[in-house]
Amino acid sequence: MPATIVLGAQWGDEGKGRVVDYFSEKADYVVRFQGGNNAGHTIVVGEQRLALSLIPSGILYPTCIPVIASGTVIDPKVLLNEMEMVAGRGLDPSRLRLSSNAHLIMPYHRKLDAAIERYLGENQIGTTKKGIGPAYTDKYSRVGIRVQDLFDPKIFTEKVKAALEDKNKILPRVYNTLPMDADEIVDEYLGYAQRLRPHVTDTSLLLWNAINDGSAVLFEGAQGTLLDVDHGTYPFVTSSNPTAGGAIVGSGVGPKVIDEIVGVAKAYISRVGTGPFPTELHDEVGEMMIELGGEYGTVTGRRRRCGWLDLLALRYAARVNSLTKLFLTKMDILSAFDTLKVANGYRSGGERYDEFPAQQSVLYHCEPEYDEMAGWKEDITGVREYGDLPKEARAYVEYIEEVVGVPVGWVSVGPERSQLIEIS
Ligand code: GDP
Ligand code: IMO
Ligand code: MG
Repeated sequence: MPATIVLGAQWGDEGKGRVVDYFSEKADYVVRFQGGNNAGHTIVVGEQRLALSLIPSGILYPTCIPVIASGTVIDPKVLLNEMEMVAGRGLDPSRLRLSSNAHLIMPYHRKLDAAIERYLGENQIGTTKKGIGPAYTDKYSRVGIRVQDLFDPKIFTEKVKAALEDKNKILPRVYNTLPMDADEIVDEYLGYAQRLRPHVTDTSLLLWNAINDGSAVLFEGAQGTLLDVDHGTYPFVTSSNPTAGGAIVGSGVGPKVIDEIVGVAKAYISRVGTGPFPTELHDEVGEMMIELGGEYGTVTGRRRRCGWLDLLALRYAARVNSLTKLFLTKMDILSAFDTLKVANGYRSGGERYDEFPAQQSVLYHCEPEYDEMAGWKEDITGVREYGDLPKEARAYVEYIEEVVGVPVGWVSVGPERSQLIEIS
């Protein structure tokens, strides 16, 4: 596993945290390359459950170096709290490396995120309100403030004041909220600077050297392909690129260093927030997926919308990411159902779609066409060998491989670290 990308192949919450934890045993570096604390990655080891939003999941292994690369947006308070939290769990955050080029989420980004959502009313995206969108907006408008700016108080103060000149017009006049005080923000953020300083480095160079030394580097995606700002269900997306290309740009490595690209997909599908979702279920089957699958957001506690596996979406994810392998999670949840359905086409306006439609309006109005398969109705949480899975479960896996055209390398059958099957 010299350089492997692990990314979400759906709308996020596919189980990336647990998958990265599994690969981390053999990784020297685990890299977050986009997003921020909108992510919630859960890892379960024995009775212990750890939810991480910014620190890469490799933190659980003492030899693994967690890296937060330049494509991310960092809320420093959240990061420092999370470092304290992991230290309290007996893990060592001193190894964490943070890119000096990562952008900072500022208090006005959080405020704008909430205000913009409120003003969108019924058209709201359902963001996590962590300030992600406004922070990336400032980055691309070239008025963002970066981690390195924290170490030059004069420049930092100037940048905050310049940003607020603009934001303090927008907040009261457009969004009817109070303006913000620059000095307060400067004091707060400079207070974080010294604690962050030992972790800050040129992470692109760090990874270049690591890869040249033959170290194993794992890139941990946040969110998922269908939330990608370019390739997802725009505008109901996040403001970064959770796809494989994002791993390259967001960590400052070249595409040729990547050996494997693993797409993580639930055996069904979920989405949190608004936006089109062709296979969403509003019946008792969907209800069972939510309850049995514990489908409540790690970050916001919101109920996740659930539905049958969408093979058009998965084949699309395989295409835009060049997936080399699939990791199928939560197979155990499907044990509850007599019959399983997978969407293998959409029908809209008398037309059939075999590929994920490029036109957003089709996604809203289409009806999925399902293939039905027999369920296995058997507890599989204790299975560790592929051959020991019920034949219906193997048929399900093999059908996905066939339609998506990517081999399934692993299946997980429970949240705990050991509850997975390697398919040779
Ligand atoms: P991520 O954002 O992609 O890392 O996923 P989350 O951690 O937000 O959500 C996945 C949830 O499913 C977590 O609560 C995991 O503990 C849980 N989970 C992961 N794999 C499995 C599995 O195979 N079976 C079951 N039952 N739960 C799983
Ligand atoms: P992980 O890494 C699921 C969704 C939000 C919203 C949209 C935009 O745990 O899979 P944002 O706050 O990013 O501007 O919100 O994206 N979203 C996620 N959904 N899992 C996530 O992360 C998500 N991060 C953002 O619900 O619909
Ligand atoms: Mg999550």
